[in-house]
Amino acid sequence: MLNEQLEQIKKAALDSIAQVTDLDGLNEIRVRYLGKKGELTAVLKNLKDVAPEDRPRVGQLVNDAKAIIEGELARAKDEMAAKARELRMQAETIDVTLPAKRNALGHAHPNTVALEEVERIFTGMGYEVISGPEIEYDEYNFTKLNIPANHPAKDEQDTFYINKEIVLRTQTSPVQARVMEQGRLPIRMISPGRVFRSDEVDATHSPSFHQVEGLVIDKDITFADLKGTLAEFAKKLFGEDTRVKFRPHHFPFTEPSAEMDVTCFKCGGKGCRFCKGEGWIEILGCGMVHPHVLEMCGIDNEKYRGFAFGVGLERIALLKYEIDDMRLLYENDIRFLKQF
Ligand code: DAH
Repeated sequence: MLNEQLEQIKKAALDSIAQVTDLDGLNEIRVRYLGKKGELTAVLKNLKDVAPEDRPRVGQLVNDAKAIIEGELARAKDEMAAKARELRMQAETIDVTLPAKRNALGHAHPNTVALEEVERIFTGMGYEVISGPEIEYDEYNFTKLNIPANHPAKDEQDTFYINKEIVLRTQTSPVQARVMEQGRLPIRMISPGRVFRSDEVDATHSPSFHQVEGLVIDKDITFADLKGTLAEFAKKLFGEDTRVKFRPHHFPFTEPSAEMDVTCFKCGGKGCRFCKGEGWIEILGCGMVHPHVLEMCGIDNEKYRGFAFGVGLERIALLKYEIDDMRLLYENDIRFLKQF
């Protein structure tokens, strides 16, 4: 009677073990048969109902069954662990014959490439590279550059004001005033940096872009020095065949002032789609430093003169790479940037 019951329990336990597929399942089986309230344990507890002379034999039977179930549980557990390990090894297999993954190397942004080129050209001519603050006093951004209080550039539509006296610089020209004020003459410097204007974003405008300012102050500096220097710059930047032309213009801090055009490097000046049929492309503003600016910055304008220029860096990058939309320079789309 008890024999049969034990056999049944053992068989049921072994069947369950054979079917179970995970450790939780195994645990449940252990609890169900061997736990404190388990089925096999219950049989042991009922040993007191067995005739005393039969007890050792029955006890032995229960212990045998228990040992067999325990053995099976352990074996199933080992099997599961082995299987899991095998699966993991398969998943982690490395095929050493596969080509290696390419590590994408970063590289300089087109703006940076253009800037480094401009810096190389001017440092090659003996210029220093100087930086100035992006957050600037109204006084340096405007007043010391001869830009009067009612000038349209001072309108809030063009300038980001932090307060009445402080602005986000709208140009790199204030660095001119800062350097002149230090009074170390002669001066031969360029100053690249970020500038800000409250413009809407479109293909040719952005609220933040970059300029490179240039300033030379010395005795006997003439407009011929300006022309020679900037013509040389244009040749180094766009190629030896590049010609330049100066158109009269107005800037408050230079007199006379001009804009410089270069022959279109695409068509050589004949006129094409790139230069809109003009043959010429405008690349910078320049002029002889206004005597009043020299004076305001503490330089003796009887003894010293100078010239200055301002280049839009994005413009150079766009021209160099024949990109027709400035937004591409800021969006940081990796597919675009990868090309340079
Ligand atoms: N600051 C001018 C601008 O933002 C550019 C410029 C023109 C700079 C003539 C100069 C200069 O130094 O001489 O439009």
